[in-house]
Amino acid sequence: MALVDVSRIPQHVAIIMDGNGRWAQARSKPRTAGHERGADAVRATMRAARRLGIPALTLYAFSEQNWDRPEAEINALVDLLCECLVSERNELLDNEIRLSAIGRLHKLPQHAQSRLLSLSEETESCKGMTLTLALSYGGREELIDAARALASAARDGEIKPEDIDEAAIDRCLPSMDLGPVDLLIRTGGEKRISNFLLWGSAYAELYFTNQLWPDFDANSLYSAVLDYQGRERRFGLVPEVEEEETAREARRELERAV
Ligand code: FPP
Repeated sequence: MALVDVSRIPQHVAIIMDGNGRWAQARSKPRTAGHERGADAVRATMRAARRLGIPALTLYAFSEQNWDRPEAEINALVDLLCECLVSERNELLDNEIRLSAIGRLHKLPQHAQSRLLSLSEETESCKGMTLTLALSYGGREELIDAARALASAARDGEIKPEDIDEAAIDRCLPSMDLGPVDLLIRTGGEKRISNFLLWGSAYAELYFTNQLWPDFDANSLYSAVLDYQGRERRFGLVPEVEEEETAREARRELERAV
């Protein structure tokens, strides 16, 4: 942790938590055991992110596509979520962590929606960090919902089509409430974005690790942040050195011309 530059902390970290099933399989355990250990890794990562001063942490906890998994696994994941929403209540409040959720939340069972809502309300005034759970979430689905909202607004004369710009789309995306993603981490060895935060990750630094999610801990997060701090973020611009060289070349041209 001593090596992390506290003045260059990523403001929004998003994580694709992959590898729970393989972690369990390697131990001849049911997949649900992997998810349970995955919940421990969520707690460790949340604490570490808070300690580092990361203001926004978004976790891909259940994708829109995960509804196609066996019913027993879906039920186990929903039960685990509900248990965590009870067991982590004090952890969130004591550490000033606000809970938020994005995704097609109406598809979750009613009791899960109620627990999410009540803990979100209870932690509403927490200012230390926002933990967003992406549940029944898909980046394309979120963009479809935004397109529908904008099309309706245009039809009702509330917005002109030519006024639809980046800011207008940002406003329609709940995932953009906390700003774009600076660092996107994926565990489990695959190098894919898998329909996560498609719009907000446009300029995110990507960090892939072979570590399986249940093994991810505070040190894993520090390593990812250190790696991020070693990157040069250009946002489509030329690097500073090239920029200087271009300016020097322009000056030389000018000198030659006069
Ligand atoms: C992907 O691993 C993980 C998930 C689909 C679920 C993520 C859930 C947790 C980390 C548990 C608890 C979370 C909260 C917020 C309470 P996988 O099952 O696809 O792994 P595999 O690729 O090895 O099969």
